[in-house]
Amino acid sequence: MSLNYSTYLRLPELLDQQRPLSAPQEHDELLFIVIHQTYELWFKLILHEFAKINRDFSANDLYGAIASFRRVRTVMKTLVAQVDVLETMTPMSFNSFRDRLETSSGFQSYQYRELEFVLGYKRPNVLHYYPPDMPGHEQMQRRLRERTVVDHFYDFLEAQGATIPPELKNRDLAQPNQPNTQVQEQLHAFYKTRPDLAILFERMTDFDEGLQEWRYRHVKIVERTIGSKRGTGGSPGVEFLKRTLFHPVFPDLWAIRHQL
Ligand code: HEM
Repeated sequence: MSLNYSTYLRLPELLDQQRPLSAPQEHDELLFIVIHQTYELWFKLILHEFAKINRDFSANDLYGAIASFRRVRTVMKTLVAQVDVLETMTPMSFNSFRDRLETSSGFQSYQYRELEFVLGYKRPNVLHYYPPDMPGHEQMQRRLRERTVVDHFYDFLEAQGATIPPELKNRDLAQPNQPNTQVQEQLHAFYKTRPDLAILFERMTDFDEGLQEWRYRHVKIVERTIGSKRGTGGSPGVEFLKRTLFHPVFPDLWAIRHQL
């Protein structure tokens, strides 16, 4: 038989992957599974797009990077909006199947962690949660040693005429990227003289803000659904999640805004 919608999209396989564990079945468990799987599919796409953005940056392709940043920031807005759907689930309803999750938690979403690492937010303590027998172990080890979007952004800025300090070019890749005042000065100069680059910087800021918005909506759904309970992943829950709430991934773009 020739290819059709179902076979191309592997629908029978895809639609066989939602398997609620509660018995008798709790109505909202399917929603919970579908939402999380949907997020994982979007994470997969975002990682795919950032691989292209890295190539664009290192090839000095401004318009390619602008187009892809526009896409990832729009996906980010979708991820934020999807929280509304899950918020239709009450705390009572979540409690009816929460025990079934045992110790599983979004905490263990390795694609989300990959995304953090790809963006330069490399938190070494995160690696403890991916021992060799945990899915994601290899990906995390690989991402730890990889150049990040910020490192590729430096390539791009350099190709545009900026001077990138040697300590940033030769940095230890396993460490998180850090803000840098010399980079900020050059971004500031570009903002004033290069409207084409300013468009890219604004799309990057959109994405960064979108990620922070997602963290905020996530903390709020956690708070309204489980209050001050500990997380199934073992963290203190809301208080733990609040710590990263305002963490930017492109801090240099935020640091100069008062001068623009
Ligand atoms: C009722 C809904 C939800 C609740 C109650 C909840 C609860 C939690 C809690 C308590 C944590 C902290 C770790 C732990 O101890 O488990 C956490 C982390 C996390 N959750 Fe959720 N979550 C919900 C929905 C979602 C959704 C829809 C996603 C989408 C993928 C998600 C992704 C994550 C991620 C990525 C983390 C790690 C965040 C970080 O370490 O900064 N969660 N969640």
